[in-house]
Amino acid sequence: MFDINIIRKDFPILSKTINGKPLIYFDNGATTQKPKAVIDALVKYYSEQNANIHRGVHTLSREATILFEEARKNVAKFIGASEEELIFTAGTTDGINIVASGLNLPGGSEIIVTEMEHHSNILPWQLWCERNNGKLKFIPLNKDGTLQVEKLNELITPNTKVLAITHVSNTLGIINPVKELVKTAKEKGLIVLIDGAQSVPHMKVNVQELGADFFVFSGHKVYAPTGVGVLWMNKNWISKLQLVKAGGGTIKTVSFEKTEYADGTLRFEPGTPNIEGVIGLAAAIHYVNAIGIESISNHEHTLLEHATKQLNEIKEVEIYGNTKNKAGVISFNVKGAHPFDVGTLLDKYGIAVRTGHHCTQPLMSCLHIPGTVRASFAMYNTLEEVDQFIEALKKSIKMLS
Ligand SMILES: Cc1ncc(COP(=O)(O)O)c(C=O)c1O
Repeated sequence: MFDINIIRKDFPILSKTINGKPLIYFDNGATTQKPKAVIDALVKYYSEQNANIHRGVHTLSREATILFEEARKNVAKFIGASEEELIFTAGTTDGINIVASGLNLPGGSEIIVTEMEHHSNILPWQLWCERNNGKLKFIPLNKDGTLQVEKLNELITPNTKVLAITHVSNTLGIINPVKELVKTAKEKGLIVLIDGAQSVPHMKVNVQELGADFFVFSGHKVYAPTGVGVLWMNKNWISKLQLVKAGGGTIKTVSFEKTEYADGTLRFEPGTPNIEGVIGLAAAIHYVNAIGIESISNHEHTLLEHATKQLNEIKEVEIYGNTKNKAGVISFNVKGAHPFDVGTLLDKYGIAVRTGHHCTQPLMSCLHIPGTVRASFAMYNTLEEVDQFIEALKKSIKMLS
């Protein structure tokens, strides 16, 4: 049941004031705030359940292991996956690096990404290309920021091996037609990775339906702690993807000469994992499930429409990616003003927005701008907050003109 007043009470930080004003937190694309259920789960873990997992016979260790593996089941279910295909990582960036370094592609391979990618879905591939004489290619954008989907076919050559695309643009909020792109890529035999950092928090995701090989996301963008994330891989990859990190907990047997690695996902989780983060992630998913991801999505959409309509009415404002199929993210600039100045003035009104290139410098260069102001919504934001943001923005524009 979606009751915004109850939801807001669940997030302790929302009662904070900033510069004497109630906090309006519109920087959810960077990281979300945490509900009490998640904070309590972490306190409970350290107060009552803390032990290392997988290797202990004592009661605490067995209980912590059960919690950890239950978390794997619940997080997997949330994205329509089997727990046998779900690896806990440090986040989206970590997941992409594990895949980019582990694919064992032939030297000279081509990798296709898009012009709107976050640096985390460019740099690991760029590094691979630099070290292996590969080539990174980009699906270009239309003027409105949407992808030129039809260009994918033209970019693919016999050397192309991978398509790595973001599900939702962190800067523009545009939801990409990933199913269509995956279909094209699969017809040409490409390996496909989807960066779900900005889709999982905002919409129902089913990795089986998307049909990619790999799907990654970060816990902290979906109300969970920082430093934990998910790499889902189609089960065919579990034994095929090369290990790029090795260590304790990943093995069947080790001798001085040779190691036999465990069969399942454990082979990708060396060392003591972020147990607390995984338990916090499970608590966050439980919380999101109780509210309902569809209700969250609808609510954020209402906020997006309300904000877009009002921003469109301000003549000094230019919105980037002003299209229909979007998640709750708006990027804009005030003509003649630097985004940092706009962000700094909004902060005086207690409003947290992100300013800058949002780790999408290539996208900024396509748009010929140094950066934008980005407002990104979460389940706890309100229409009243949007109105206050618009009022504060109008006042800021006056000050800047
Ligand atoms: C689309 C996208 N990909 C990747 C990342 C990197 O996520 P993390 O820093 O949690 O690894 C982000 C973070 O903003 C993102 O928005």
